[in-house]
Amino acid sequence: MDFSQRLTQRANLIEAHLRDVLGDAVAESTPECGPEARRLAAALHDAATNGGKRIRPLLVIECAALFDVDENACLNAAAAVECVHCYSLVHDDLPCMDNDELRRGKPTIWKAYDEWTAILTGDALLTLAFEILVRAATHPSSKTRLALVATLAKASGAHGMVQGQALDLAVSKRGEPKTPTITSTKTLQALKTGALIEAACQFGGLLGGGDQQALSNLRNYGAALGLAFQISDDLLDLEGTPEDVGKATGKDTADGKATLVGLLGKDEARLELDRALKNANAAVDGFGAKAVVLREIADFIAKRRH
Ligand code: IPE
Ligand code: IPE
Ligand code: MG
Ligand code: MG
Ligand code: MG
Repeated sequence: MDFSQRLTQRANLIEAHLRDVLGDAVAESTPECGPEARRLAAALHDAATNGGKRIRPLLVIECAALFDVDENACLNAAAAVECVHCYSLVHDDLPCMDNDELRRGKPTIWKAYDEWTAILTGDALLTLAFEILVRAATHPSSKTRLALVATLAKASGAHGMVQGQALDLAVSKRGEPKTPTITSTKTLQALKTGALIEAACQFGGLLGGGDQQALSNLRNYGAALGLAFQISDDLLDLEGTPEDVGKATGKDTADGKATLVGLLGKDEARLELDRALKNANAAVDGFGAKAVVLREIADFIAKRRH
C-alpha cells in the first residue's frame, strides 16, 4: 500500500468509526422533543464526518503501530482526537473568530445552521471526545485510559490549543502584541496546532505501552510536525485555491494573522518548514525502519496541496 492509499484507507476507517460513535449519540437523542432534537445530532455529523484528511487519527494509528498495536485497537483514541480537532474547526470558523463560510469544501456549521448551533456542536464534540476515551473498549488498562484523558485535556485547553487560539485572535483582533516576533509566533502556533498533533503522537505511544524515552521521542516528533503543519497551512492560505484546500484562501494577511509566512516571507518560511521536518524525522530515528510511515507523513506535510 503506498502512502496515498494508506491515507485514504485510514481516513475511511476513521470516518466510518466516527459515524458509528455519532450514531449512538443520535439514537440517544429524544424523539419526544420532535425534529429539533435531531438538529444538533445532524450538525455533529456534518462537523465530524464531512471529509477532512484525518492526519491526527493517522498519527495515532501509525505511532501505535511502532509498538505493533492493531489499527482497530486505536480507533476510539483516534476518533477522540479527531472530535477535538473538528470542534476546534467549528469554533475557529465562527464569525467572532475567523469568520469563515467554507470548510472542507462545504458551508461551515454556523453558516449551514446558525451560530448557537455551531457553538453547541463544538461543545458536544469536545465532551464526546472524553466520553469516548473513558470507554472500556478504548484500552484494557484504566491507567492508560486516564493517561489518554489527561494528555488530551492538557493539549486541548488553556495549556494547549485554546490558549493558542486566544493568542492568535489577540494578534488579529486586538493587535496584541503589536509586533509579533518569530519566537512569539512559534509559541502561538505550537499551542494552537502543535499541541493536538503532539498529543496524537503521544496517544500512539500510550496505546502501545511505550517507555518514557519512546514517549518523549514521539512528543518531539509531533511538536516538530505541528510547526511544519501550520507553516504549510499558512503557505496554502497564500498560494492555494479554495477549490484545492476546501476553505477560503488569502485571508491571513488581510486578517492580520501572526504567521511565519508573513514574518519571514514564503521562501524563508519554506526553509523553516523543511528544518522542522528534519527535526521531526530525527526525533524518530531511534525507531529505525519501523518509522518509515512517520517519515512519509512528514514528507506529505511538506508537499501537500490541501
Ligand atoms: C486545519 O487542519 C487547521 C489547522 C490546524 C491548520 P487540517 O488541515 O488537518 O484540516 P482537515 O481536518 O484536513 O480539514
Ligand atoms: C486553526 O488555524 C487552528 C485551530 C486550532 C483550529 P487556522 O485558523 O489557520 O486554520 P484554518 O486555516 O481555518 O483551517
Ligand atoms: Mg484560526
Ligand atoms: Mg481559521
Ligand atoms: Mg489557516
